[in-house]
Parts: sequence; structure tokens; C-alpha cells
Amino acid sequence: MPHTPPHLVIDLGEGDEPQSNHSGNRHFSDILDASLSRRSALKGGLGASIAALFGGMGLSGCASTGGGSGGSLLGFTAVPVSSADTVVVPKGYKVQTFVPWGTPISGHMPAFDPLKNTGADQAHQVGSHHDGMHFFPIEGRDPYSGSSSEGLLVMNHEYVEPRFMHASAVGQKLSSSAVPALVNGKRPADECRKEIHAHGVSVVHVRKGSNQQWEVVQDRLNRRITGSTPMVLSGPVRGTDFVKTKYSPDGTRVRGTLNNCAHGVTPWNTYMMAEENWAGYFVNQVSATGRTREQIRYGVRSNESKPATSRYGWELADDGSEEFTRFNVTARGADATQDYRNEANGFGWMVEFDPFNPDSTPVKRTALGRFAHEGVVFQPGVEGKPVVCYSGDDATNEYIYKFVSKGVFQKARGIANGELLDEGTLYVAKFNEDGTGSWLPLVFGQGPLTPFSFRSQADVLVNTRLAADRLGATRMDRPEWGAIDPRTGQVYFTLTNNSGRTAADKANPREKNRWGHIIRWTEMGNDPAATSFQWDIFLLAGPQNDSRFAGQALTQDQMFNSPDGLWFDKDGRLWIQTDISESAMNQGDYAQFGNNQMLCADPRTNELKRFLVGPMGQEITGVITTPDGRTMFVNVQHPGASTSADDFAAGKLNGTWPNMGRYGRSATLVITKEDGGVIGT
Ligand code: FEO
Ligand code: CA
Ligand code: CA
Ligand code: CA
Repeated sequence: MPHTPPHLVIDLGEGDEPQSNHSGNRHFSDILDASLSRRSALKGGLGASIAALFGGMGLSGCASTGGGSGGSLLGFTAVPVSSADTVVVPKGYKVQTFVPWGTPISGHMPAFDPLKNTGADQAHQVGSHHDGMHFFPIEGRDPYSGSSSEGLLVMNHEYVEPRFMHASAVGQKLSSSAVPALVNGKRPADECRKEIHAHGVSVVHVRKGSNQQWEVVQDRLNRRITGSTPMVLSGPVRGTDFVKTKYSPDGTRVRGTLNNCAHGVTPWNTYMMAEENWAGYFVNQVSATGRTREQIRYGVRSNESKPATSRYGWELADDGSEEFTRFNVTARGADATQDYRNEANGFGWMVEFDPFNPDSTPVKRTALGRFAHEGVVFQPGVEGKPVVCYSGDDATNEYIYKFVSKGVFQKARGIANGELLDEGTLYVAKFNEDGTGSWLPLVFGQGPLTPFSFRSQADVLVNTRLAADRLGATRMDRPEWGAIDPRTGQVYFTLTNNSGRTAADKANPREKNRWGHIIRWTEMGNDPAATSFQWDIFLLAGPQNDSRFAGQALTQDQMFNSPDGLWFDKDGRLWIQTDISESAMNQGDYAQFGNNQMLCADPRTNELKRFLVGPMGQEITGVITTPDGRTMFVNVQHPGASTSADDFAAGKLNGTWPNMGRYGRSATLVITKEDGGVIGT
């Protein structure tokens, strides 16, 4: 009888993405001293000084929701670190736990029962592993203005923990990434379906009730987009040989979106979901070198992986249907239209949809490139100007990208502005040692992107990482979220950590960067479409003996590591969320940081304070307020994930927050001030 591994144990480790950049691009190891000294010379006035140097962009004209001019934006008392299984917020704030995984929102409104719910039930319930999120005011006209008491809460569901989802898992030794034991080498099809349906996006009509508690409104706008929802491709890759499959012989359609980490909100009021660590969901049953280059450079598994299955083994579903076998991307048919060899090429994109139309088909915008998109952040839409957005590739030593549309934004066109994302120039960032930077265009036929190395622009886009390698882009310490300061136009990006860095450089100044940092830049002339910029390091995260912010070490009230989520509110508060891997959290010298948390900074005054600490085992990710700034939504992802396999088997859980059922559940926090004030004041 052939030996079957009892469990698929897929240890993705910190950040869930294996290193797959083996290009020789130089790291920025020499850059820190210059950037930090430039920074301390400018002290707190850096933003203003850069603004003066590059076009004098002043305060934006948007109405303030608090803080006043010149005063402190941060009126709360910092909270201490915590390792308790609870949510900690400052005095004077309160928290409601909202829309946990499994909350029924549509269809037959199936009540949550983690051991009994089917795949069909999950398609009508809030997904798992809440991540990037936006509150769309119910009027549906503008993403940042309108009602502050009713809207569509739209959120990503990054991945799943199968052990918390199935009756078959009870009593088995399962780590957070393992699936229950195979039966005759197969997985029950409905377990696979349930996991696929727990991925994707939830659209939930929400409203503040008369008791000030937020509630779900039963409404036809409520919607689940999942790992099996039909979608279309647009942009240069649409219809090319790269994406022809048995499901879509003309290369125009794809089933589903996966591993949606952070998100983006377009100036025309649509939502974008990022496909981050999608590569591991596929397996090509050939040798490592037998894979295509668009599989190798992204880490699609081969039969040399141990075990040689996809992340969750969906291709092993026992009903053998193509809904599942498509995750096996081995070439088996006569040509690409007879099998799923190209299925993985349909992933790695930014996907746009209109949350106000429940029948809208999500669109994979291929002009924005294919990589481990953490998310996307847009510059404000300016009438008659190109649309500009930024996206980080979250894997060790990968790059930061910018897209500039060819056409221009016209507010009156509404969602038709989405077509702007189909034609334009994708750039990759090069951070020079002297504090300047360049945007290098990924355009077929230009520079090294010749017909000798690429066949077409579609080839450049499907192989975005390879093209960026050839241009000599700067290898970064795992780019996560970006955010744009409404007062200066400066762009900030988190670089979460990079234990794989062997040589530092000025933009990534630590070898084996365990703690992460935040970098920022100003576009030349304050023109978002510029091809050069000026950058510096905003903050080096870490413990008190190894961190730097405004020329000082971080204090007890400030110290954190592994920055990930990042968002500016409209007053200019910078909200920073952390994602210490659950395997490191509260261990060794990570213990001093406690559980994952959220901090708030004012880059103008160089204030920084810890605002919130989450429960055990989780990461804090996803943050948005209502337009009035008085209700904040924050996501708690994978509570209880630090439960060991042995403890899970014994029924001992390391964290059960929010104590709404048998296991921990990802959920949204609704944070308000007891005095009804603006969050952060
Ligand atoms: Fe899914 Fe890069 O965090
Ligand atoms: Ca994570
Ligand atoms: Ca992360
Ligand atoms: Ca993230």
C-alpha cells in the first residue's frame, strides 16, 4: 500500500512567502547612514523641507476632523504592550466585536457552526482571515464622503486555517497551516469547497443602530466573492496564450481570486483586492526546473516540494472535478486549452469590482503587473490628470511598483474610469544611495526588455518580477502596505522584515532585518506621474536598543516590529499595524513586544503612540474610519493561530478570542470614543 503523508504540513513561516528572487540586483546596504543623517539634519521639519524642495505642496484643503492646526493630533494615552487574550484600547474608547468569520449575510442565511457548515453555507457567510478593508458610505458616490452611520463594509479574507473549519480535524495533530489527514490520498471535496469559499471578499451592508451598536443589514447588496467566482481578465494579458485554459480557451476568464491581503480604493469608488501569496495554491508535478519561468520566479510548487501538493491540497478533492483539479497545473492535455497548465497565470493580479452592483463581474487588471501584490494605494484623483497608484510585492527581496495611466481621470465617467487601469506604464522603484530614486519603466522593447528576453508586453507583465530584475530595481525588505499623507503628498511604505537579507543597503539598512522599517518618498515636483523621487527612512522599528525614530530610540510606549498595515486618516494621522509571525510572537526577544498591535503617528510632529493591542495569536490588519472619523473599523486576523499541533489535538487552545464559539475567529473591531469624538484625538 503506498505511503501517504498523514497530513499536509505546509510551513510558510514569516510572511507566508518563500524567497524566490535569486537575481543579482544590488541591495541597498550602504544607504542608511546618509538617509538617517539627512533626516536628523532636517529633524521634525523633514516633510515641510522636502515639500519646499520639490514644489512646495502645502496642507491639503480637506476639512479637518480634529486636531486643529498646529496642535497635537494624538490626544489619547498610549496603551502598554500586552500578551493577554483580549483587545486593549486607550481609556475613553470602547470596542464592539463585529462580523466574525461565519456571520450569515446572504442567501439562506446559514447560522455559523464551524463543524457543520458546508461549502455552500460558507458562500453565504463572512469569509475567514479578515484583512484589508474599506467603509463605502451608502450614497455610493465617493469613497471618503457621505454617511458615517450606514455603508458597505468591504473586506478581504486572506486565507484559512483548515483545523478550525472541519469536524474531521477534531483530535488530529494539526498546525495552523495543516489540513486534516488525507483519506486514500484524497480530501473530501466539500472541505475543499468550504476553504475556497472562505477566501475572497465580503461586501456587507452595515448600519449603526439606535443603541449605537453596528449591525448587518439584510440586503441584496450583501455579497461574497470567493476563490471560485467567475472573473474576467483585462489589459495586455487578456486573450493571450499565457492565460488560455480548458475553462477559458480564449484566455479571457478566470475562476476566483485567492490570498487577498490588502486592498485598494479607486478614486471612482470601486474596490480592488490584491492577490498576494497565490503561488503556493498550485502545484506542477514536474521537476523544479521543469516548470515554466512564470512559475519558477513566483514559487509555484513542483514535485520536489515536500510534500508535492498545493498549499491546501485542493487538487486532491475526491470528486475529481475541474473546480479542484485546476490547482494541479501540470501539462497533461494536447495543448493549453485541454488542461490547466496556465491556471496559475490567472493569479497574481490586482482585481477590481464595483461593490454597489452585486452582479458586477470582478476584473483582473493585468497592466498593473503580476506579483505577490500586498495591496494598492491610489493618489487622489485629479480631473484631467493620469491615475497613479503604487503596489508592493511582499516577498523577501522583491520590489515596489507604480502605475501611471495613459488616459486621464474624468470624475463624470464614474466606474468607467476603471478602463484607465488597462493602459499605461508600470514602473519599478530604484532607490539610489544619495536619497534620490528613479521609476524604471517595464515596457516591452525598451532597455533590456528586448525580444531576446520577452516576446510582448503581455510577457513582461506575466513575468513582472523577471522584467524588474533586468531593470536593476532595488530589492526591498518585503514591501507591504502603502499610504499617502494627505497633507504633503508623501508616499509611505512598510517594509515588514527580511531575515533573508545578506547585505544591507541604504534603503534596507539592516542585514537580517528582523524588525522592519518604514520608508517614504516625495515625487519630483510633487507630480505623482514623475519618473524620479526623493526618499528617506521614516522609522526603523525594533526594541529600544535597536530602533530609530526622529533621532531617538523608540520608547516603551512606541516600540513595535514587523510593520504591515498602514493608513493615513484625512487629518494626517498615520496608523501602523503589526504582523509579527505567530511562530515568533511572544517568543525570545520578540516577547517584549507582546501581541500584534496598532500604533498612531503624526509625521509632522514626530509623535508616535501605541493605540491598540490585539488578542493572542493574531495580527492586526485593515483599518478605516467613517468619513466623520468617529467610528473606526480594524480587523483581527487569525486569533489563536499560535496553538501548537499537539495542543490542538488535545483540545487546548492558545487563545479563543472573541469567545464566540469553539475556536478563535477572525473579526472586525468597531472602535468609538465614549465622548463620541474623532478616533485618535
Ligand atoms: Fe499578507 Fe504581506 O501580508
Ligand atoms: Ca500575515
Ligand atoms: Ca504580513
Ligand atoms: Ca499584510
